[in-house]
Amino acid sequence: MKNYKELIYDQSHVNGQWVSGGSGTFKVVNPADGTEVATVHDADVALVEQAIQAAAVAFGPWKALAAKERSVIMYRWYDLLISHKEALATIMTLECGKPLVESRGEVDYAASFIQWFAEEAKRVYGDVIPGFTADRRVLVVKQPIGVVGVITPWNFPLAMITRKLGPALAVGCTAVVRPSEETPLSALAMVALAEQAGFPKGVINVVVGTQAAATGKLLCESPLVSKISFTGSTRVGQILSSQSAFMLKKLSLELGGNAPFIVFEDADINAAVRGAIAGKFRFSGQTCVCVNRILVHEKIYDQFAERFVQAVSELKVGNGMEPGVNFGPLINKKAMDRMELLVSDALAKGGELLFGGKKQDNYFFLPTVIGNAQANMDFAREEIFGPIAPLFKFKTDEEAIQMANDTIYGLASYFYTQDLTRTWKVSEALEYGIVGVNEGLISSESVPFGGVKYSGKGREGSKYGIDDYTEIKYVCMGNIN
Ligand code: SIN
Repeated sequence: MKNYKELIYDQSHVNGQWVSGGSGTFKVVNPADGTEVATVHDADVALVEQAIQAAAVAFGPWKALAAKERSVIMYRWYDLLISHKEALATIMTLECGKPLVESRGEVDYAASFIQWFAEEAKRVYGDVIPGFTADRRVLVVKQPIGVVGVITPWNFPLAMITRKLGPALAVGCTAVVRPSEETPLSALAMVALAEQAGFPKGVINVVVGTQAAATGKLLCESPLVSKISFTGSTRVGQILSSQSAFMLKKLSLELGGNAPFIVFEDADINAAVRGAIAGKFRFSGQTCVCVNRILVHEKIYDQFAERFVQAVSELKVGNGMEPGVNFGPLINKKAMDRMELLVSDALAKGGELLFGGKKQDNYFFLPTVIGNAQANMDFAREEIFGPIAPLFKFKTDEEAIQMANDTIYGLASYFYTQDLTRTWKVSEALEYGIVGVNEGLISSESVPFGGVKYSGKGREGSKYGIDDYTEIKYVCMGNIN
């Protein structure tokens, strides 16, 4: 078993080799205290090109393996991820500030996608369709799409990669992974364990560096890459989409959100408070499914607000490596400064500061509650991606649904009620890919995760997650007399 220092690598991993790339180095900084975690070699586009070539060469032999053979290697990788949980979680906390308890949870979450798709690898079933004339027979087979460009964010340094690699590898695709430059170390540790698990060279390539735009463009425009799978902002998703348009490349896009959290008058208020804390403050509010707007029925608004503020005041803010801490720093100064702007905009427009609202040392921003939130405040439209919880009031179910849907985004939504009819009606009316009913945590490898509208396209995880990495081929056999 390796300790975390033995799993820190400072180079890209291409075609089974550790390689530098020619663009100098960059630093990975711990957002909790500003210390340097590592200096990493910066991959240039020539190295990305090499990675694409390697993945293209590896594709033929990898897809030719029996599904069971790929599955066995994936299981070995799953075991290695789990047995190195503590080391991987430590690296993650050091590079992104996530509290250690959440980082451990993320290693489990990341590994679960590899386990799930190791199982699914053996179940990529086709079909037999009755022939459309008496002498024809029709088969349907699913085949791997090819080399996949995997572009991932810093907020889930492992799980967003494995959520894409799981289905890709299971069906026989190979990959070039570009993790965020804020969190390259988790990705490199992960690929080192993949190598140990026995993946052939070139099947998983990881390029780390600061040249995000050039790398994305190359992946989108390379004729050797058949698909792009991206998690990140809507703006970058749109750029990748337009760069991929000429080649009509298949895309999976998991983009921004603006999740409403509706508390109806018949809700169990304590359960709603627990759900709102979990759904809002996971990784200090820095997830795409984090609660963005809390909509509370006017009759229970004061009660909810009081209990919610009390629960927020109990969060333990600090360096994620310290025991008991469940609320860490934001990723960087830009994120922290943006929180300050969102708060001052809301206060200038009549918002009430019920808790927090301040920057602290390094990149900490206190968990914050704003009462009397209104539709003209910036956070009503924008994805907050940080620890601000605005409380809005509503009077009727129709008004709550209208407010909830009044956004360009459509990823996650949540509501609390004890009424069965309302449960059905509201679930059906919400224009979102994900609905949590009396539940603030909705993520799992076994569910189809993804959004509608400007939140993207495609679904990740579950039995549906495999489809985005395959092409359907229909085989018509004629002259069968
Ligand atoms: C995300 O923030 O992009 C993913 C969140 C999750 O998988 O729960």
